Amino acid sequence: MSEAPKTATLTIDGKNYDLPIHSPTTGPDVLDIRKLYGQAGVFTYDPGFTSTASCESTITYIDGEEGILTHRGYPIGELAGQSHYLEVCYLLLYGALPNAAELEEFETTITRHTMLHEQMVNFFRGFRRDAHPMAIMVGVVGAMSAFYHDSTDISDPRQREVASHRLIAKMPTIAAMAYKYTIGQPFISPRNDLDYASNFLRMCFAVPAEDYEVNPILSRAMDRIFTLHADHEQNASTSTVRLASSSGANPFACIAAGIACLWGPAHGGANQACLEMLKEIGSVDRIPEFIERAKDKNDPFRLMGFGHRVYKNMDPRATVMKQSADEVLELLGVDDNPLLQVASELERIALSDPYFKEKKLFPNVDFYSGIILEAMGFPTSMFTPIFALSRTVGWISQWKEQLSDPAHKIGRPRQLYLGEDVRSYTDIENR
Ligand code: CMC
Repeated sequence: MSEAPKTATLTIDGKNYDLPIHSPTTGPDVLDIRKLYGQAGVFTYDPGFTSTASCESTITYIDGEEGILTHRGYPIGELAGQSHYLEVCYLLLYGALPNAAELEEFETTITRHTMLHEQMVNFFRGFRRDAHPMAIMVGVVGAMSAFYHDSTDISDPRQREVASHRLIAKMPTIAAMAYKYTIGQPFISPRNDLDYASNFLRMCFAVPAEDYEVNPILSRAMDRIFTLHADHEQNASTSTVRLASSSGANPFACIAAGIACLWGPAHGGANQACLEMLKEIGSVDRIPEFIERAKDKNDPFRLMGFGHRVYKNMDPRATVMKQSADEVLELLGVDDNPLLQVASELERIALSDPYFKEKKLFPNVDFYSGIILEAMGFPTSMFTPIFALSRTVGWISQWKEQLSDPAHKIGRPRQLYLGEDVRSYTDIENR
């Protein structure tokens, strides 16, 4: 016998309203308030969407209390340890792990789409040399809709697929070109005999006068950074992509919107902000001063790279990232780097300090990714672009899912209006 559908009863001014409750595969039940305004004439109020599900999804699941993250059911630790980025991209996009032939075809497709339209080079040249690479990425990715007209019709499934492949394939090229432009070096073309992560490293670090030998440990660490950032459920930038897409905007415009949102220091910009904070702290003996500032309610300073809206336990991505950081640091022999000494002492103190323990503020993924990227030789300004290129597949998978969801409609939140009530216009001489 099937169970009776669950409902909750809300009473407003003595009148009862039954609200359906949906049970997910796993995680807390979800109260369906879609008809609430129509029936009861009230809105719900939830700034920051801390209690609101905006969509149905089958892609990623997070249990922040337990520190669990899965993609299509597979735990992130297994994917980061046994799989690799392009296989995870396939999984996120299509819902299942590929067989050998499917993976080969997918990898070939992505590899063959890595070059940019030659005229886009002119677009880069319009930026100031000191532009932040994220500013360049927002502009260039948005401009893709002016170059790839044959993949902007969102009603055509084939065009949607081509746009997905183009974005995943071209994002490393765009990020590397943004970097090369800001340091005044010539652009390096992608090479089809290299894997995704090695190709990116080479496009960033080779110069025409000298090629770049990709170290397999660094390439593996790079691939892990991509994998660990591939998707993260309905976070701020993903929700931005979905909201932009809800109006029917083309995929390149939607992903540009996601990149813009990711840039903020509370989200993807945290890895850059974290490394800059470590540099500002400068030496181990100054850590207590910064810990005190982080605890001071009257000081807006926060320990960047600590805390998470959803994880109230160790971020499972941070656990894998820490292992990767250890491997890379051992390879590069940077034990005596003062920045890394500050990082490891800060981690130790924050993990044992009662303030951080009580508020469940653990080091997050960006704390460790910044350390790895710094050791690899990336400037801090490239940290968020690397996050953006990794997250592109997540944004695209969520965008695809949204477009095929019959329940999707334009996103249009309501508000709690606390401004003036209607009043009459006053002539300027009477104000
Ligand atoms: N340092 C010091 N105190 C903190 C920190 C921190 N990093 N994060 C949160 N708190 C305190 C905060 O002051 C508040 O205290 P109280 O309860 O006394 O008012 C309490 O912890 C809860 O904070 P909140 O702001 O209500 O939590 P939130 O869920 O809105 O914010 C966060 C989550 C990630 C924005 C925040 O922890 C933060 O600003 N962290 C630093 C930035 C960072 O590392 N962001 C990267 C997140 S991981 C990558 C990604 O997903 O983009």
